[in-house]
Amino acid sequence: MEIRSFEDGDEEALIALWEACGLTRPWNDPRADIALARSTASADILIGVQNGGIIASAMAGFDGHRGWVYYVAVHPNAQGTGAGRKIMQAAETFLSTYGCPKAELIIRGSNKPVADFYEAIGYKKEDRLLFAKWLTEPPLPQDEAPILDVTVTFLAMGARPSSAPRNPPVTGTPLSLQRLQKPTISFYRYIHHTVGDPWLWYSRRAMTDEAVLEIVQDPRVEVYLLSEGGVPAGFVELDFRKMPEEADIAYFGLFPDFIGRGFGPYLLDWGIHTAWDRTPAPKRLTVNTCTLDHPSALGLYQKLGFTPYAREEQKLPDPRATGLVPAV
Ligand SMILES: CC(C)(COP(=O)(O)OP(=O)(O)OC[C@H]1O[C@@H](n2cnc3c(N)ncnc32)[C@H](O)[C@@H]1OP(=O)(O)O)[C@@H](O)C(=O)NCCC(=O)NCCS
Repeated sequence: MEIRSFEDGDEEALIALWEACGLTRPWNDPRADIALARSTASADILIGVQNGGIIASAMAGFDGHRGWVYYVAVHPNAQGTGAGRKIMQAAETFLSTYGCPKAELIIRGSNKPVADFYEAIGYKKEDRLLFAKWLTEPPLPQDEAPILDVTVTFLAMGARPSSAPRNPPVTGTPLSLQRLQKPTISFYRYIHHTVGDPWLWYSRRAMTDEAVLEIVQDPRVEVYLLSEGGVPAGFVELDFRKMPEEADIAYFGLFPDFIGRGFGPYLLDWGIHTAWDRTPAPKRLTVNTCTLDHPSALGLYQKLGFTPYAREEQKLPDPRATGLVPAV
């Protein structure tokens, strides 16, 4: 096993390792944890690589008095081969470069058996009480978050609307609608989260980059970006993966600064016509909206030709409390 520092491109494999080792928790966003460690001068994420794959990790940081080690993991297939000892030695060497005199770590109460590992590599249990206080809004485990009552309405349309496509709003600045061909994850997440955060769109936030890319780079999924003078104003995501049975408006929304300027009806109507505009046409076009969305969304879908066909009551742990969607 070779040991090196975390590099760009390691994120997915590292998170997969943490998941395989049971180290992730719903209230700790591993991406945010990685980003914070990387932006901290006296911290590093050490990675153990074997045959091109990440099999071990340890996050180490010196706080000016003590050094702390987190996210110690060895892939279950590689455990018991000395990898844990090696990655901990690398973490200790890193801390020593700061003149750090003592390394410390915390074991979750539910993970007591791992204490034997630390004892085997020279750590001793100390009689301390651990106190902590969140300096940001504390994220809550899924089962402790306040519950939001959400009504989801499923709508469909059985034929192309008979009305002509709407004209774009006159703004004096050129508008453009462009398909994002193979969007990168950073750009896709930027538009999706900027548009969706105010309405608590949490599903894509809960997905790994790989899973999101598998959808949005699928040739049967079309993401269109509306811009005014080159500035992103909204997007519509059309999902044709169930063709020829149905097409779905998976997401549709405006950037917060563009709400209330007439872009919404235009973009939705454009999306509807674009979805119908293929041969063979879908048998139906679907969309769903929930009571967390903009209050006029349901009315707009109906006005533009959709009819509700089902409703579902859902209990959703508040994604702001669980840390999935940033609380603004
Ligand atoms: C804990 C963990 C990192 C250990 O890694 P590992 O590669 O299996 O450990 P090593 O092979 O380097 O073992 C080093 C020593 O610890 C001992 N050891 C390891 N796991 C042990 C266990 N569960 N019980 C008793 N001893 C253990 C080994 O016998 C070895 O001792 P030796 O050198 O005297 O023979 C790994 O099991 C893991 O990833 N667990 C899941 C994630 C986790 O709990 N992380 C810790 C969070 S605090």
